[in-house]
Amino acid sequence: MPDRLFTIREEGDSVAILDQTLLPHQHATRHLNSLADAAHAIRAMLVRGAPLIGVTAAYGVALALKDGAGNKALQQACDTLAATRPTAVNLHWALARMRGHLLPLPVAQRRAAAWAEARAIAAEDAAANRQIGRHGLALIEKIPRRPVNLMTHCNAGWLATAAWGTALAPAYAAREAGLPVHVWVSETRPRNQGLLTAWELHEAGIPHTLIADNAAGHLLRQGAVDLVIVGADRIAANGDTANKVGTYLKALAAADSGVPFFVAAPLSSVDRDCPGGAHIPIEEREGSEVRHVGGLDRRGVHATVAIAPDTTAVANPAFDITPARFITGIVTERGVCAPGELHTLFEKAK
Ligand code: MRU
Repeated sequence: MPDRLFTIREEGDSVAILDQTLLPHQHATRHLNSLADAAHAIRAMLVRGAPLIGVTAAYGVALALKDGAGNKALQQACDTLAATRPTAVNLHWALARMRGHLLPLPVAQRRAAAWAEARAIAAEDAAANRQIGRHGLALIEKIPRRPVNLMTHCNAGWLATAAWGTALAPAYAAREAGLPVHVWVSETRPRNQGLLTAWELHEAGIPHTLIADNAAGHLLRQGAVDLVIVGADRIAANGDTANKVGTYLKALAAADSGVPFFVAAPLSSVDRDCPGGAHIPIEEREGSEVRHVGGLDRRGVHATVAIAPDTTAVANPAFDITPARFITGIVTERGVCAPGELHTLFEKAK
């Protein structure tokens, strides 16, 4: 990745992020200087994607401890950040790790330790995603057609992580290995994260085609897709997976068309305390996200237009659950497993 393409990095005693609300039209960096800045960046989706939300939350704790690192400040930082978005478990995983690491330390050491731990979380995420890419590449290599046609949903590329991405990591690994791939990219209404995926793939020179979400089933039936690969916001212990709304419909269509459907995620996205998908909290976002669309006007200026009046009733669940029975396999940093076999990957580490 060229140096300007980063999602999050330390700059002095602040944290620089790429503002994803402006992409793909504008490339702008923002600086987070406080707990409030970090919480806002996650809630308003300047940063997004489960792993990146976790990394930002970890840095949010470090920023919060600038003004005092006592138990109360630490707890308040964790509570504030935990309340930003409910579905991605990486947020809660990162906060639990920060709290667990910092609480036993003398207060005077906590600030420096918080920065170091946030840095470690970011580095581990990048390393895990690199491994996901390698394991995913092994799946792609088995497909005889060239180019291999992948389909993804939302954005689970480097923009959604510290680096490399999860669902897109195998595509990046394939490019490095000289294996030609083409990616079907679904728009992902209402927030259109598919446009981020198209932008990423364009930057990387990977052939791709943007489709309306509703075109996915047709393409799967037509045999235009060899493998579907998506990310995850939370994987329950039984393999049921929460991901961006619309994922479930792709899994259904893939199952009916006999196309393998993989979820790619680091183990930090697995919630071992959650027995099944019915227990995963699903974020409900503002109706305005459905009633309005943003883009460039004729002059190339960013504009938002209403496509429905404010009086139209709107539901906006941001995620859905794909039951484990529709998932061919889960690609993690420790290898690929059937959704019901996730525990074997955790045991590998012991
Ligand atoms: O609402 P978002 O954009 O944060 O949702 C992102 C997704 O659903 C991703 O697929 C998921 O977080 C995995 S990102 C590697």
